[in-house]
Amino acid sequence: MASNQSNSSHETFRLFDEKPTSGFGFLDFPEKPLPPPPPCLEVIPSEVSANVKYTMEPVNLDGITLLKGRVSTQEVFALSNSDLVPGKYEGGLKLWEGSLDLVKALSSEMQDGQLSFAGKRILELGCGHGLPGIFACLKGAATVHFQDFNAEVLQYLTIPNVNANILKKSQYLATDVNECSSVQADTRFFAGDWGEVHSILPFVSSDENYTRSIPSLDQIAGYDIILMAETVYSISALPSLYKLIKKCVSSPHGVVYMAAKKYYFGVGGGSRRFISVVEKDGSFTASLVAEVADGSSNVREVWKLNLK
Ligand SMILES: C[S@@+](CC[C@H](N)C(=O)[O-])C[C@H]1O[C@@H](n2cnc3c(N)ncnc32)[C@H](O)[C@@H]1O
Repeated sequence: MASNQSNSSHETFRLFDEKPTSGFGFLDFPEKPLPPPPPCLEVIPSEVSANVKYTMEPVNLDGITLLKGRVSTQEVFALSNSDLVPGKYEGGLKLWEGSLDLVKALSSEMQDGQLSFAGKRILELGCGHGLPGIFACLKGAATVHFQDFNAEVLQYLTIPNVNANILKKSQYLATDVNECSSVQADTRFFAGDWGEVHSILPFVSSDENYTRSIPSLDQIAGYDIILMAETVYSISALPSLYKLIKKCVSSPHGVVYMAAKKYYFGVGGGSRRFISVVEKDGSFTASLVAEVADGSSNVREVWKLNLK
C-alpha cells in the first residue's frame, strides 16, 4: 500500500520493517520497547517554514468537499513510504479511512439534531490531516485544538490543511465562499505523546479521576467534543489515550467521537478493544453511531462516548 494516498479503500495496517505473519492478531507482533517519545511542544503556525513540497486536492465526502494536502514521508521523515514506525512516526502523514468515516458521521449527527459545533471547544487527538477538526471549524466551533505525535506532521500537513480549508478554500472552491467567510475558530496545534501531552493542552484537568466527583471550574473548562480517528490500533497506547480523554473531556456534558477499524490485523488494537477499556472503567456510556462494511477493508465503526 502506498502511504498518503487519497484512495485508501484497500488499506491494510502495515508497520515499517514488517515481517510476513499469519495475519491473525496481536500475538504475531509482540510489541518491542519503544524509544523515548519526542518532547511535547506547541507548534506556532507563523513559525512554520514551507520547505517541504505540499500539494492539495479536494476530497468529496457525500456532498461535503474538504481539501487535503499531500507531503512526502521521505522528505519529512527521511523514511520510505510506510504507514508508521512505532515510537518515531505514528502514521500522521497518511489520510486514513476512519477520518473520512468520522466526518460523514459528524455530518449525519448534525443533520439528525444530535450534534452542534457552534461555539464549542473541540480537541482532535491523533489528527494527522485534521479533517474532522477542520470540519468542526467550518461548522462554527469556537476553539479547535489539534494534537499529533509528531510536530512535523502538524507543521507540514495539518497547519497547511487548516489554512487551505479555512483561508484558501473560498479561492479554490467558489461554492464554499459563504461558509468560509464565517469561520472564526481559534486553532492551535500541539505535538506530543498521549502519556504527556496533557501538560501543554490548555483545557485539561490534572486529576484524571475528576469525572467521578464534583468538578471544579477548571475541570468544567475541558473540551466539549473530542474527535479521533484511527488512534486505537496499538494495544499498549490504549491506557494512556483513555487517561488523556478523561483528563480532557468537559464534565458533565462532554462527548467523544471515535472512528476506527473494528480490529487491526497484525497489531491487535481496534474499536472493540478500546470500547472494552471504556466499559471496564465505567465513566462513559458508549454507543455505536455508524458501521462501515463496504467490503473494501476490515469493518470500520464510529462510536460516541457520553459521560455518565
Ligand atoms: C493512523 S494515524 C491516523 C491519523 C488521522 N487521524 C487519520 O485518520 O487520517 C494515528 C494518529 O495518532 C497519533 N498517535 C499515535 N500514537 C500516538 C501516541 N502514543 N501519542 C500521541 N499521538 C499518537 C499519530 O501521530 C497519528 O496522527
